[in-house]
Amino acid sequence: MSDRVRTLVWVDGRLKLIDQTKLPTTFEVVECTTYQEVADAIRTMKVRGAPAIGATAAFGVVLGALEHRQDAPSDFLLAMDMIFHELAATRPTAVNLFWALERMKKVILAMQGEAVTSMVDALVVEAETIANEDVDTCRRIGAVGAPVITRGAGVLTICNAGALATVDYGTALGVVRAAFEAGTEFHVYTAETRPFLQGARLTAWELVEDNIPATLITDNMAGWLMAQGRIQVVIVGADRIAANGDTANKIGTYTFAILAQHHGIPFYVAAPLSTVDLALASGKEIPIEERSAKEVTHVFGQPIAPEGIDVYNPAFDVTPAHLITGIITEVGIIRPPFAASLVQAVGRT
Ligand code: MRU
Repeated sequence: MSDRVRTLVWVDGRLKLIDQTKLPTTFEVVECTTYQEVADAIRTMKVRGAPAIGATAAFGVVLGALEHRQDAPSDFLLAMDMIFHELAATRPTAVNLFWALERMKKVILAMQGEAVTSMVDALVVEAETIANEDVDTCRRIGAVGAPVITRGAGVLTICNAGALATVDYGTALGVVRAAFEAGTEFHVYTAETRPFLQGARLTAWELVEDNIPATLITDNMAGWLMAQGRIQVVIVGADRIAANGDTANKIGTYTFAILAQHHGIPFYVAAPLSTVDLALASGKEIPIEERSAKEVTHVFGQPIAPEGIDVYNPAFDVTPAHLITGIITEVGIIRPPFAASLVQAVGRT
């Protein structure tokens, strides 16, 4: 077992989160005691990464429910509606947020007519189950995906799909960890991931902490590394996978997929099945979050662009399914044609 601190832990009625905006210079744990604090932590990216957002939101529901524990049933249901609404409005792209909120809603629906206190207790259990399942799922993704990293490979990743983006272990970085634990020798290249720098701040931090051989590059170096023969596989996370396999992930992922295809390099997405959204036919329907211009014009509070310049800051892009070699999930590597294989895989859970 690793001695890593989990990204989020539920202790004595509070949610403790590693504040990811402070890493890598400061390791700080923040406590949320209200659902509003949870919503704010997601919105401001103290906690980020699709599975971590989902599990955090589930505990946000719990904190809201605890606040209304003494309410009459009708008041409780009304308050919970508002709480679900507020948590759902935090970030639009990662479907795991809505998936986790749906699971929590189902608990309440299944207990209509029972005491409010019993519903609250059941919500606590469900949130803890979501968090624990996530750890187990990531371990399975790691075990399934480890063989795609062969001896001597250069592995390129973007953003942070690591322990910090999940409850523990990670998805894309879970595959890296599992290959490393299996004794495979390889080298990771982590792209810094402008503008929020999840690759430089978070993935590089996790790799250094685990002593996994790695090199930090800026995003625009990826093509040149591939041309030099230094990358044998690309592995990225996902925020939402549409029914046809189109995949939304951190901005820059699509560029890497195009580059990988050009150089004949396999391109894998690693994600739990909770990231698959069969309700959306294609990536065209995935809502793409746009974040503040300041993330682009400023670096650590310092302006790097002239005042008055127009800015476009989409936080995610969509990689078309035809550029994806396989989707590494907890039930196996899903291969094209994804329209059939995704439905089959989701049906197995
Ligand atoms: O904006 P972020 O940091 O929440 O974006 C995170 C990503 O794009 C990750 O690659 C994705 O959520 C998968 S995390 C296992």
